Amino acid sequence: MKSIAVFTSGGDSPGMNACIRAVVRTALHHNIRVYGIMHGYQGMIEGQIRELTTSDVGNILQRGGTILKSSRSKDFLTLEGRTKAFNNLKKHEIEGVIAIGGDGTFAGAKIFTVEFSIPFVGLPGTIDNDLIGTDYTIGYDTALNNVLEAVDKIKDTAASHDRLFFVEVMGKDAGFIALRSGIGVGALAILIPEVHTDLAELIENLRAAYTRKKSSSIIIVAEGDDAGGAYEIAKQVVQELPQYDTRVSILGHQQRGGSPSALDRMLASQLGYEAVLALMAGKHSVMAGIVNKEVCYTPFEKAIKHHDKVNTDFLKLSEILSA
Ligand code: F6P
Repeated sequence: MKSIAVFTSGGDSPGMNACIRAVVRTALHHNIRVYGIMHGYQGMIEGQIRELTTSDVGNILQRGGTILKSSRSKDFLTLEGRTKAFNNLKKHEIEGVIAIGGDGTFAGAKIFTVEFSIPFVGLPGTIDNDLIGTDYTIGYDTALNNVLEAVDKIKDTAASHDRLFFVEVMGKDAGFIALRSGIGVGALAILIPEVHTDLAELIENLRAAYTRKKSSSIIIVAEGDDAGGAYEIAKQVVQELPQYDTRVSILGHQQRGGSPSALDRMLASQLGYEAVLALMAGKHSVMAGIVNKEVCYTPFEKAIKHHDKVNTDFLKLSEILSA
C-alpha cells in the first residue's frame, strides 16, 4: 500500500484531531503517503485533497474540532456525486481510505464500497456513542464531561431559587449522552428515546418530590425523546404542576467542543493507529472499535444499528439513587 487518505465527516467530535494525527504518523512510519480530504464527502467530490506531513498534525492532539473540517454532504447521496469522489481518489492513486465519523459516514461508506473498489476502514467519531462494535465512540466521554460541567452550574442556580430544570442534551435519536450524564448529575428523571416517556408518570414523580420537599431538581431530556423536546415536556408539566418554578436549558453545541478528555485522546490514538494496520492487512468495509479492551472490527451495516445497545438498567439505578 503506497497511499491512503483520511477524512472526518458528520458532526465533529473531540478527539478527531488526535485520531487524524495517529493515522498520519502511523502511515508515515510505514512509508505510506497520507492525503487529507477536507470537508468530508463533499471535499472528496470537489477534489479538496492534499498530502499531509508529520508537522501538519503537530500540536493538534489536544484540540477539539477537526483540522480536516467536516460536512454533511447531500451530493454524496447521488451516484453522480459518488462517481466524482471515486475519480478524485483515483487521481491521487489512493488505495485505502480511513473515514472518521458516525452512522451517516458509515452508511455513505457502505454504499460507496459496494459501488467502487477502494477499501474503507471506519473509525467511530461522534459524541452520540450510537454505534455497535465499540464500547465508546471518540468524543463521547468529552461530551459527557461537558454536560456534567454545564449541569453542575445549572444545579447551583437551581438550588438557589428552588427551581425545576429541564435540561436537553444532544444524541440525535439515541439516549446514550442523556443516560450517563443523567446519572452523573443525579437527575431526578432521565428521558431517552429508547424508552417510551410516560408524562403522567413523570408528573406523579414530580408531585411526590414536591410533597417530600425536594426543593430543586434536574430532569435530563434526550433531544430525540418521544414526548418531544425539553420545552414541550416542560410546558405540559407546568400545566399540571404550577407550584414548581420551572426553567428549560438546551445545552446545544457546547457539548461537542473543547479539548478531548484523557479517555478520548487514548481511544483516538489507539484506533487511528489500528486503522492503518487494518488497511495494510487488507481489511475493508469495517469500523474499528474497542470492546472490553480488545480492538475489534464490525461491518459498516452492523455498526450503524445502535438500538440494542442502551443499558436501560441504568434508568432503575438512576431512579433509586436520585430519590
Ligand atoms: O451527531 C452529533 C450531533 O451533535 C447530534 O447529537 C445532533 O443531533 C446533531 O449532531 C446536530 O447536528 P448539527 O451540528 O448539524 O446541527
